[in-house]
Amino acid sequence: MCLLGIDLGGTSIKAGLVDKKGQILIKGQVPTGAREGATAVLGRIRDLAQNLAGERGLALADLTGAGIGIPGSVDVAKGEVRLAPNLFWRDFPLREELAALLDLPVAVENDAHAAALGEMWRGAGRGFNSLIMITIGTGIGSALISAGRVHHGVFGYGAEMGHLKMVRDGRQCHCGGHGCLETLASATAMVRSFREYLAAGHPSRLPDSPGLGAREILAAAAGGDELASRVIDEAAYYLGTALANAILLAGPEGIVIGGGPAQAGEVILAPIRKYMAAALGAWQLKPVPVLGAELGNDAGIIGAARLQARVEPAEDE
Ligand code: BGC
Repeated sequence: MCLLGIDLGGTSIKAGLVDKKGQILIKGQVPTGAREGATAVLGRIRDLAQNLAGERGLALADLTGAGIGIPGSVDVAKGEVRLAPNLFWRDFPLREELAALLDLPVAVENDAHAAALGEMWRGAGRGFNSLIMITIGTGIGSALISAGRVHHGVFGYGAEMGHLKMVRDGRQCHCGGHGCLETLASATAMVRSFREYLAAGHPSRLPDSPGLGAREILAAAAGGDELASRVIDEAAYYLGTALANAILLAGPEGIVIGGGPAQAGEVILAPIRKYMAAALGAWQLKPVPVLGAELGNDAGIIGAARLQARVEPAEDE
């Protein structure tokens, strides 16, 4: 059995062929080009899938099925995207369109839900029955796993922590709201904050450049750069506070943090834990572990494939 897992992000499309134990056999990545519209994006997904299959000596018809995680709310039963702000999609029949293009059965999920399923299958979420996962990237995604199952909510937007309102009159978000968590603490927001501070005259050893990303800011913070540290500390404050609020709402056993910035490790995880504990105060009745995702950028691919998999034991038997 060979499955196609697709992690469709606002910036890049990542895809891989995955076996029934959740091991990636081959993977690749291309830019999303969301502004060119849905047809162009789906065409790039098909080309990437064909190339990956081709490199393994396979055709798309040899695959068992495909799963795709998308950055927005999904009607999972119908396979329709309700709203994906970073792709500019609304009410899009993704399962139908992609299944026709790939000639394969397709399952559709929210990207952070898919990442959480991946982490629960093969990563940091193994053994948890209830979990909150957030993914930090172009936006901020989240998943609430309760009694081992993804909580979808009525319209597929449970959980959408990236759009929790954290400040009054804050930055405008793609969703139309203001002060959403992802405008303050996503990878995109970290870069924006860093540039705003630079423009306001705050010194840093890290120069601005067109390709500047959260990765560079996190590395500079780890190296002691004051401005980079300030930017990361502020993002961590909002993440920690939002997670404390989510814990008070859902009471999970653990938290998993994924996405590119989480791979920087303690430089971001430690302040998130600090601010989360501060916000919980006396309600920290039992410490809730905050773990970095183990599958890195592969969680979305593996979790998307998991949507189609008949699951094998996760252990490396
Ligand atoms: C979307 C979420 C998505 C997240 C990460 C947010 O803007 O609303 O549905 O999971 O970005 O891609």
